Amino acid sequence: MKTVLVTRRVPAPGLSLLRARGFRVAVSAKDRPMSRTELLRAVKNADGLLSQLVDRIDAEVFAAAPRLRVVANYAVGHDNIDKDAARARGVAVTNTPDVLTEATAEMAWALLLAAARRVPEGDRAVRAGDFNGWAPGLHLGQGVSGKTLGIVGAGRIGAAVARMSAGFRLRVLYWGRSRNRPLEKDVGARRVSLDRLLRESDFVTLHLPGSPGTRRLIGRRELGLMKPTAVLVNTARGTIVDEKALVAALRRKRIFAAGLDVFEKEPALAPGLARLPNAVLAPHAGSATLETRTRMAVLAAENIAAVLAGRKPLTPV
Ligand code: DGY
Repeated sequence: MKTVLVTRRVPAPGLSLLRARGFRVAVSAKDRPMSRTELLRAVKNADGLLSQLVDRIDAEVFAAAPRLRVVANYAVGHDNIDKDAARARGVAVTNTPDVLTEATAEMAWALLLAAARRVPEGDRAVRAGDFNGWAPGLHLGQGVSGKTLGIVGAGRIGAAVARMSAGFRLRVLYWGRSRNRPLEKDVGARRVSLDRLLRESDFVTLHLPGSPGTRRLIGRRELGLMKPTAVLVNTARGTIVDEKALVAALRRKRIFAAGLDVFEKEPALAPGLARLPNAVLAPHAGSATLETRTRMAVLAAENIAAVLAGRKPLTPV
């Protein structure tokens, strides 16, 4: 019987699917990430591995797992996996695209609106008893309708964010490796240079993968190009933003606000970030809806089942 190691419990339909296909499913008993030692020990007899984005899957893991044929990451991002090492060992790597596109795009919008209209700050003030009645200058934010939205990385999630902008009548700019003609046709999006996008956008939202090529793409210089009224949103990977530079920009009001679902050294925050009223912070919850997490579990399980049955995975990386 082939064994699938699941490094942390995922929604039951994914686990049931694996059991129904005849696999022995070993789920970590602890509701926390596996320690390195636990992972290296547990993976020994695994034919398949259902990993979390916080598990570092590298050459050491592959060396400890001689039977391993597939790593199904429970995420669309796969920056936690050494793909070269996997290839060298003949291990397939898969992710969970598409099923989390809308949920993550919704989170980008939630952060954009919350940061632009200062929703969490207002909530804190009201709860603290600091709301003493309506006033003309109280709690002014940035309006959203009719402005310019800059999408950095117009893949699935970036394009979904752009499509959701229709009700706000936004002008959409995007920057990406390749042209997204359907997006240009459907929402009138325009492909521009990154600098131009940063200069002209009122809202800049990041949708690139975490990789050495995107590391600290948004740093001091890039933040300096943005409008003082602009909002930066990141639901992609924290490594794309130089968090220390962002803290400085927010503190000096170089930009208006930021909405962040991901952090450079997650779960740690750059010093000072948590104290900034113009930073809206979420706990890496872009895909965190029950429906989406269930679909992710089923897709990851389908990928494992396919590879271990000698078929092609549904969503290879
Ligand atoms: C992903 O899938 O990469 C998200 O960051 C978590 O769901």
